[in-house]
Amino acid sequence: MQKYTTLILVGLIVVLAAALTGVLIFLKNQPTQERAFQPLVEIQPMEPDSEKWGVNFPNQYTTFLKTKTNNIDTTYAGASQFSWLERDPRQVLLFAGYPFSKDYNDDRGHVNALEDVRATKRLNLNLDDPKRTPGTCYSCKSSNNPALWNELGMEDYDKMSFVELGEKIDQSIGCANCHEAGTMRLIVTNPALEEALTAQGKDWETFTRQEMRTVVCANCHVEYYFAGEGKYLTFPWANGTDVYSIIEFYENIGFKDWDYPEAGTPMLKAQHPEFEFFTADSTHFNAGVSCSDCHMPYVRDGAAKFSSHDVHSPLLNPELACGQCHTDTEYVVRRVFVIQEQVATTKIATEDAILDAINALQVAAADPNADSALLDQARTWHRKAQYLWDFVSAENSTGFHNPEYALKILADSTNYARQAQMLAAQSIDDTSLLATGTFDQGSIP
Ligand code: HEC
Ligand code: HEC
Ligand code: HEC
Ligand code: HEC
Repeated sequence: MQKYTTLILVGLIVVLAAALTGVLIFLKNQPTQERAFQPLVEIQPMEPDSEKWGVNFPNQYTTFLKTKTNNIDTTYAGASQFSWLERDPRQVLLFAGYPFSKDYNDDRGHVNALEDVRATKRLNLNLDDPKRTPGTCYSCKSSNNPALWNELGMEDYDKMSFVELGEKIDQSIGCANCHEAGTMRLIVTNPALEEALTAQGKDWETFTRQEMRTVVCANCHVEYYFAGEGKYLTFPWANGTDVYSIIEFYENIGFKDWDYPEAGTPMLKAQHPEFEFFTADSTHFNAGVSCSDCHMPYVRDGAAKFSSHDVHSPLLNPELACGQCHTDTEYVVRRVFVIQEQVATTKIATEDAILDAINALQVAAADPNADSALLDQARTWHRKAQYLWDFVSAENSTGFHNPEYALKILADSTNYARQAQMLAAQSIDDTSLLATGTFDQGSIP
C-alpha cells in the first residue's frame, strides 16, 4: 500500500512539474505585448493607417503620436525645425546652385514627415520640367509605401512625378514602415535597402532581433541617390558603406547632383547617413548597442512595459535612453556635449577651408589662361572635400554616433579643400589666392 502511495505521489509530482514547465514555456514565448492585450482587430498586411494598428497597441500608438507635437530643441538638434541656413550662413554658399541653399531645416518627428516634405521650398512641381521633383522623394515619408511598392513595383513608383504619386499618398510614416502586420516583427520594407543588402550577400531574414533594431532604421536613415532617368532609388553601398567606399562608388559611375556655379565642380549632396556613420566601427555599434536602445527605450505604463515610439533626441530623456546601461547619466551627457562641441567647431573650420577653395576656383576658372589640368585636379579635391564634410554635417548627431570617425573625416575634408585651393592658385600662378579666411558674411545672397 505504502509503495502505491509513494508511486502515486511521485507520479503526481511528475505530472504537476510537467504542467508547470509547460505553462512557464508558454508564458516565456508570449511577446510582452500579448500578455497585456489580446489583438482586438485584424490588421491587413501593409495597412497604411496607423490608427488601425493603434487599436491593438495603444501604448505604442499614443507614444508614436507624440512625435507630432514634440518641438523641443537641444543644443545642436531637437525638433523645432530651425533653419540651418540661418544658423550657419556658410551653408548658403556651400550649397550655391542647389535647392539646399534655399531651404534647409532641421528634422522633426516621424508623424510630420509627410507634411514637411510637401512644404519644403526645394520641390519643383512643374510637370513639364525634366528636373521636376520625382516621386522617389516620398520613399521615406509615408506608410502608404509598402503597399504601393507591392502593387506598382519600385521601378514604376520611382518613375512617377512627385505630384502624380502624391495623389496616392495620405499617410505619414507609420507602423507599416517597420512592422509586419500580424507577427509585428521588424522588417525591411524599402526595396532599395533589400537590394543593397542582397548585393552585399546579406539576407536580413537571418538577422538577429538586436540587429533588426538598427537595420529597421536603415529603411530611411541612409545615404542614397536616384539612378538614371527613372530616378531609381539606390543605396551607393556596392563597395562598402564607409564614406570612402561611397565616394569611390560615385567616382566609378561619374555621378553628380549639380555643378558648382562659376567653379565648374561636379558636386555631390550627402543625405542623412546615420546608419552608415554609426555602423562604421563606432564604440556603441561594436558593443552591440542598437539605434532603438537609445531612441526607443523601454518605458512603463502600469504593468505594461513597451518600447517608446516617441522617437526623438535622447538628450531629452537621458535617464531612460542612456541610464539603462550607464550608471552615471550626467557624466555621459556631459561627454555628448564635449564631443558635439568639438565636432561643431571643427566643422566650421572645414567649411572655411572649402569656401577658400571655392573662392580660388572661381577666380581661376574665370581666367582663360588657367592650366586646365591643374584646375580639373583642383575640382576633384573640391568635390571630395565637400562630400566628406557633408557626410558629417548631414548626419544628424553632430558627431556623437561615431566621434573619432567624424573628426577623421573632417580632417581629410579640410586637407582636400586646401589642396584644391593650392592647385587652383597654381593654375593661374596667383599666390594671393592662397589667402585663408576669405568667407565674408556680406557675400551671402
Ligand atoms: C548610444 C546612443 C545612440 C545610438 C545607439 C544612436 N543614437 Fe542617434 N542620437 C544619439 C544622440 C545622443 C544624439 C544627439 C541628439 C542631440 O544632439 O540632441 C542622436 C541624434 C540622432 C538624430 C537627430 C535627432 C534630432 O533631434 O534631430 C537622429 C535622426 C538619430 N540620432 C538617428 C539614429 C539612428 C538611425 C541610429 C542607428 C543607426 C542611432 N541614431 C543610434 C544617441 C544615439
Ligand atoms: C520610413 C522612413 C523612416 C524610418 C523607417 C525611420 N525614420 Fe526616423 N525619420 C524619418 C524622417 C523622414 C524624419 C524627418 C521627419 C521630418 O523632419 O518631418 C525622421 C526623423 C527622425 C528623428 C528626429 C526626430 C526629431 O525630433 O527631430 C529621429 C531621432 C529618428 N528619425 C530616428 C529614427 C530611428 C532610431 C529609427 C529606427 C528605429 C527611424 N528613425 C526609422 C524617416 C524614417
Ligand atoms: C520607425 C520604426 C517603427 C515604427 C514606425 C513603429 N515601430 Fe513598433 N517597434 C519598433 C522597434 C524598433 C521596436 C522594438 C522591437 C524589438 O525590440 O524587437 C518596436 C516594437 C513594437 C512592439 C512590440 C512591443 C514593444 O513595445 O517593444 C509593438 C506591439 C509595436 N512596436 C507596435 C507599433 C505600432 C502600433 C506602430 C504604429 C503606431 C509602430 N509600432 C510603429 C519600430 C517601429
Ligand atoms: C544598450 C547599452 C547602452 C546604451 C543604451 C548607451 N550606451 Fe553608451 N556605452 C555602452 C557601452 C557598452 C559602451 C562601451 C563601454 C566600454 O567599452 O567601456 C559605451 C560607451 C559610451 C561612451 C564612451 C565612448 C567612448 O568612445 O569611449 C559614452 C560617452 C557613452 N557611451 C554615452 C552614451 C549616451 C550619451 C547614451 C544615451 C544617449 C548611451 N551611451 C547609451 C552602452 C550603452
